[in-house]
Amino acid sequence: MKVLSGIQPTGRFHWGNYFGAISQYIALQDSEQAFYFIADYHALTTVRDPQMLSGYVRDAALDLLALGLDPQRAVLFRQSDVPEVTELTWLLMTLTQMHLLEKCHAYKDKKAKGIAADAGLFTYPVLMAADILLYDSDVVPVGLDQVQHIEVTRDIATRFNSIYGVEALKLPNASVLDSSAKVPGIDGEKMSKSYDNTIELFETPKKLRKKVNRVKTDSTPVEDPKDPEQCAVFALYRLFADEQQQQDLAARYRSGGMGYGEAKAALYEAAMEHFAVARERREALERDPDTVEDILRAGAARASEVGRGVLDRCRSACGLVRRS
Ligand code: ADP
Ligand code: TRP
Repeated sequence: MKVLSGIQPTGRFHWGNYFGAISQYIALQDSEQAFYFIADYHALTTVRDPQMLSGYVRDAALDLLALGLDPQRAVLFRQSDVPEVTELTWLLMTLTQMHLLEKCHAYKDKKAKGIAADAGLFTYPVLMAADILLYDSDVVPVGLDQVQHIEVTRDIATRFNSIYGVEALKLPNASVLDSSAKVPGIDGEKMSKSYDNTIELFETPKKLRKKVNRVKTDSTPVEDPKDPEQCAVFALYRLFADEQQQQDLAARYRSGGMGYGEAKAALYEAAMEHFAVARERREALERDPDTVEDILRAGAARASEVGRGVLDRCRSACGLVRRS
C-alpha cells in the first residue's frame, strides 16, 4: 500500500496543521511506503515573493523533520524537484472536463466573491491529481476540505483509462483525517492562517505564552463552575494531555474556584513539553542545512524513479514516445 500526501508551504505551520495533518503523516510512515511532499508548485498560486516562498519551503522541511518525519521510513521531497508532475498535469488537462473544475470550491468561492481567478487556481485540482497519480498512490490522507479534489482525481483517472483503453492510472482513495480534530484558534474559530488566529508550532516561549493567554474565554467569574466542553483553552489542552490529565483539569473546571488563567498556564506547559524534543531537533537541523537539502534531494530521486515509470506508461498510452 502506498500512502501519499502534500502540504503547501504558504506560512509557518500551526497547531491546526500539526494535529489535523502532520501528526497523521508521521503515524502513517510505517505503512508499506509513504510519500510526502512540500507542494511548492501549488503555493505559487498564492505566494508571489521568491524569498518568502523559498523560506517557507525550508521551514516546512525543518518542521516536518523536527516533528518526527523520518527519511529512513518515508520519502520526503519538494514537489518542484520532480517536474515530471507538470507533464502529467498537461496530459490530464487535455481530457479534464471544465465542469469538474468549475465546481471545485477554491475557484467557486473566489468567483462567488467576484475575485478574478488565475488559470493556476482554476486548474489547481489537475496538478493535485497529477501529484497523486504520478506515484501510483493508494491512500491519500487529507482534511475534509480536500476530499472533493480526490473525487476529481478519481474522475480524471477513470476518464484517462477509459479514453486510452488501458489501466494506466491507479485510482486512489481519500483517508479523511478525523474531523473531530478541528483545532480552534485563539478566537475560538477554526485555526487557520486566513483568520489570523494561529499558534505556530515553534513560537518562542515568550510569544507562545502571550498567544495562549489571548485564547478567547467567557466571563464566568473565578469562583463559578465552568464547562470545559465550551472552552477553547480546554479543547486545545485536550490535544496535548492524556486521559487522566484531561479528567483532572475538567474536574477543576466543574468544581469552580479556578480562573481561566490557571487553565492557560496548564496549556502552555503541556504545549512546551509536547514539542520540547522537536524544538531541539529543529534547532540542530537549522544549523545543518546541507543535511536537510540532502534529504530532500534523495527523496526527490526516489520519487522521480517511481514517477518516471508512471509518466512513461501514460505517454505511451497517449501515443507519445517513451522516455526511458
Ligand atoms: P490554513 O487553513 O492555515 O491555510 P491549510 O489549509 O494549509 O491551513 O492546511 C493544511 C493541512 O492542515 C490540511 O490538511 C488541513 O486539513 C489541516 N488543518 C489546517 N487547519 C486545521 C485545523 N484548525 N484543524 C484541523 N486541521 C487543520
Ligand atoms: N491541496 C492540498 C492542500 O491545500 C495540498 C496538496 C497538493 C495535496 N497536492 C496534494 C494533498 C496531493 C494531498 C495529495 O492542503
